[in-house]
Amino acid sequence: MMKSLLCWPEPVIRVQSLAASGIREIPERYIKSPSHRPSLNNDDVSQPQEVDVPVIDFQNLFSSDRGLCEEALRCVHNACREWGFFQIVNHGVSHELMKRTCEVWHEFFNLPLEEKQKYANTPATYEGYGSRVGVEKGASLDWSDYFFLLLMPLSLVNQSKWPAIPASCRELVAEYGSEVVRLGGKLMKVLSMNLGLEEDSLLKSFGGEENVGACLRVSYYPKCPQPDLTLGLSPHSDPGGLTILLPDENVGGLQVCRKGRWLTVKPVPNAFIINIGDQIQVLSNAIYQSVEHRVIVNSNEDRVSLAIFYNPKSDHLLEPCKKLLTKDRPALYKPMTYDEYRLTIRAKGPCGKKQVESLKSPRQSD
Ligand code: OGA
Ligand code: NI
Repeated sequence: MMKSLLCWPEPVIRVQSLAASGIREIPERYIKSPSHRPSLNNDDVSQPQEVDVPVIDFQNLFSSDRGLCEEALRCVHNACREWGFFQIVNHGVSHELMKRTCEVWHEFFNLPLEEKQKYANTPATYEGYGSRVGVEKGASLDWSDYFFLLLMPLSLVNQSKWPAIPASCRELVAEYGSEVVRLGGKLMKVLSMNLGLEEDSLLKSFGGEENVGACLRVSYYPKCPQPDLTLGLSPHSDPGGLTILLPDENVGGLQVCRKGRWLTVKPVPNAFIINIGDQIQVLSNAIYQSVEHRVIVNSNEDRVSLAIFYNPKSDHLLEPCKKLLTKDRPALYKPMTYDEYRLTIRAKGPCGKKQVESLKSPRQSD
């Protein structure tokens, strides 16, 4: 492994502590260049325009009523094509479990700093309590802290790296994780069918049910005295397969880039927000594309979100599905393992869609 990935290049500052210190102005490191600030595309940052991202009744996708099922499949397909994002309701994950898992993470982040520091992460694996992605010295920083942990494959799970306090945390995360990963498997089937592939095709390309990788990133976006100068999370596309996000039910902040504009997502109660990652873009040969998104912060309330990333087996070679290739539309991407792909992001941090674009076969990019 590259030496530079073993430790952080400078002392880590917890954004939550910074926010709690009562500063009126944020440090230089968090100030984005004018063109990257949230205010540019919004007339009024304090009241960003909220949009409705397509909502799909997940149950209908598996209904015996063919009309309902086909309609729901079509909605997912269109959302994947046009937004790269959709929301699902009636997804089968217990609302009570969702709520309790959110609460337990609120409690974790409200613990004294010393307790959280026991889990301080390093860029070697990113597992644990962190405050930045990327190891470039002097890089611009985002206004958030996070906790990152592995849920799958089971052989790599190490619960001793998960918070021991609150006492119910490990149990809740394990239960929540397994429910959401199961949901991820169903989504993979839906996307396969919509692409005209065998139902288990995408999952097989990911290395099969027992080999897929899944991880949880809980993000904590503290309230910020100058929200119009910074971002909670810089523009990026998710590097993996699919993301299943449980946004804060009280505080908005997720923005999706659509036709060159940043739109704030209006979360539907008890829904998950699903988005396409770079590896689905590769497998589908860009029939589905990952879409850039970012998070804005505000001066009134902290925000907590839970993202589960459903990813390929890390050493599995991924390339566009043969069945989707035609003479007019040959493979756009060269084969690569997810391990290799992820390395760049782990070194450089969020970089919009640069990483997946750089994968393009030379033939295509001239
Ligand atoms: C992510 C992400 C969005 C959010 O973690 O990749 O995009 O609302 N999170 O926290
Ligand atoms: Ni993301």
